[in-house]
Parts: sequence; structure tokens; C-alpha cells
Amino acid sequence: MNAEAAIVEGTSKYLIENYGRLPMAVVRGQGALIWDVDGKEYVDLFPGFGAGGVCGHCHPKVVEAIKAQADALLSHGNLFTNAPQVDLAKRITENAFGGKVFYCHSGAEANEAALKLARLAAGEGRYKIISFNNCFHGRTMGGLSLTPEAFQKGFEPMLPGNVKVDMGDLDAVAAAIDAETAAVIIEPIQAEGGVNVPSIEFMRGLRKLCDDNSLLLICDEVWTSPARTGKWFAYQYFGIVPDVMTLAKAIGGGLPVGVCVAGANCADVLVPGTHGCTMGGNPLCAAAGAAAMKLIADENLLDRALAIGERVAEAITQAGADCVSEIRGKGALIGVQIDESRQAKDVMLKCMEKGLIVCIAKNNVLRLAPALTTADDVLDKGLDILIDVLKS
Ligand SMILES: Cc1ncc(COP(=O)(O)O)c(C=O)c1O
Repeated sequence: MNAEAAIVEGTSKYLIENYGRLPMAVVRGQGALIWDVDGKEYVDLFPGFGAGGVCGHCHPKVVEAIKAQADALLSHGNLFTNAPQVDLAKRITENAFGGKVFYCHSGAEANEAALKLARLAAGEGRYKIISFNNCFHGRTMGGLSLTPEAFQKGFEPMLPGNVKVDMGDLDAVAAAIDAETAAVIIEPIQAEGGVNVPSIEFMRGLRKLCDDNSLLLICDEVWTSPARTGKWFAYQYFGIVPDVMTLAKAIGGGLPVGVCVAGANCADVLVPGTHGCTMGGNPLCAAAGAAAMKLIADENLLDRALAIGERVAEAITQAGADCVSEIRGKGALIGVQIDESRQAKDVMLKCMEKGLIVCIAKNNVLRLAPALTTADDVLDKGLDILIDVLKS
């Protein structure tokens, strides 16, 4: 049995099989490249399922920050504070809408914090949350309650008071609001749901409905930020400001960081005793996140996200593959709509055979989210494989 087969076998023997993992064991990553245990190289245009999103695998600046912090202190709980968590919070809030942050480790936990914050801010008796069909907000009971029914099967009952409407339908949102509604949660671009971009008018209308009804507007930016779409945060495309924003995946530079950012109007409702996370804001992960945020600013990765998005769209469009019916998204969050003649999953698996990692999303969409540090020649190498598979 070769090394990869042994790891794959050990995975099914010792790990709960809740993921449908592919039979590939990875050992090393550098930028937009990743290697399996047998030494096969892949161009990774979907690093870390979003978590390697800004700087790619093992960016030297992030690794340097992690090593320095690892020599000093890994974690200490939240009886005390530390400099890296302040540094990361400052970089987030100063590029967003001010306010303050709560730290945890994942997107689902960040959304849990947002839900609890929203209930406290709304006051007693107001607990309902409006979310959108095709959304995804995580696998905890709170996040799951917001997410479409297909994910909820077998886990009912959900939290009470969750109402789902179509993204884009302001009348439906208005009709869903009542005296018990506390908040609306939306991804500024639905990622798992198929890379669906709402209109500016819809997002502005949503903001107005929230203002008129004293509801918190929560933007779940777990996939879309930081920098992935060409803005620090994707809400910035719509000329609106949310009350609360949640972050995870790429904000940790490759380590687990979840963040709930709350505006000055609501941050202070979470007082001691209301919420917590033992290792949230630990200096090791915060240092990695702060290094990633610094990299975005130092290397102007906002513009790079836009350039990557344009290069990918142009290459696929010019190739003229019959099965591609639309390319959508913003910056380097790219959805390629595959028509009924092909299965996006087959395309993904064929790409993998040929040394390219891409992913899929709902409704037969192929999903690319290259690291923003990906050089043009590596990007082109990956696109050549993708185009070859799309046209075969
Ligand atoms: C928009 C969005 N929110 C929340 C989550 C949950 O994040 P995590 O898997 O880190 O809990 C995801 C995961 O893909 C997501 O796409």
C-alpha cells in the first residue's frame, strides 16, 4: 500500500465520515501550489476552501508571524488580552465601519455570536431572523436554522422564528417583518448557493427596511472577505453599511479565526457573562490574521483580486466552451455556470486528475477562489487545465 492509500484508509477508519472527502492526502502547500503525499503537484485555485484565500498556502510573511508568536505565547484565555488580537481588530474595524470585534474560530461561531447579539440588541420578545433562500451560514443549530431546509433534515426542530425569502425580493422581506423580528442576515454574495450577486438596489432597499423597522442588518462575509472580491469587505460594493459583519476563513491567514464585528450602535450589548470563547483571539491565530491583513494592504491585493477575476473570465470566455453558460461573481470569487450538458462535479474531478483544484457550488456551478497572491503564470497553467477539461 502506498503512503496515500494508507492515509486514506486511516481516514476512513479513525475519522467520522461527515465530509465525503476525496482520496487525496496533502502534505505541502506553497502559494497556489499544493502537493500530495506521493509528490504530485496541483495548481490550487481553491486554497483551503476559502481559508487560504488571501495569501495562498504558507505565505512566508504569515509563517514568519506565526513562528515568532509560537516562540512567545500560544494562548492564554480571555482573562487577559494580547497585542496581536488588538492589531487584527484594528486592521478590520479601520477598513470597515469602526465598531468592535468578538473573536472565535469559525464562520458558524461568528454567526452564533451575531445571532445572540441581535437578540440582545432587539430586546425581549424580538427573536426572529430573516435569511435568504440559497444562503449558507454554518452548521451549528443557529447557523443551520438560517440555512435552507435541505441542510436541516434530521436535525429538527430548528430555532424558532427563522423566515427565509428570495434574495432580490424586497416585498417578500417587507412582508416577513413583524413586531418579533430582530435582524436580517445576508451574504453580500452567496457563495455556497452558487455565487449569486444581489443588486445594489436590493441591498440598499434591505438597509432601508432594516432602518425603518429598527432591525440589525448582518452581513455574513465569511466567504467574501477580506479582499476576495476586490474590496476589503464585499458590502462596500453596495453603498451600505451593515450593523454587524461576520468573518472567518481567509481572515485567519490559514489558521482558524472567526470574527463578529459589531457597529458602535450595538457592540456594547455583549457584556461580561453574555457570550464567550475560551481560545477566541488567541495570539497565535490573531498574529496570522494580522499578517494576512497587512499583506493585503502592503501588496495591494484588492486590485490583484480584480485582475485575477478579469483574467479568469477572459480566458474562459475566449475559450468558448459550449457547456459554460455564464461567468459571475466579483473579483476573485468566481462562479462558472455549467449547463445541463455537463455535471460541474465531473469537471471538478477531471481537473483534479490533471493537477488542478477547483470546487463546485449549488446549481451546477464550478467555483474558483484563487489566492490573491497567485502569479499570472500559475493562474494560466491552472486555466489551461480547466479549459482543456471544459472543452473535452
Ligand atoms: C457564508 C458562510 N457563512 C458561514 C460559514 C460557516 O463557516 P465555518 O465552516 O467556518 O463554520 C460558511 C462556510 O462555508 C459560509 O460559506
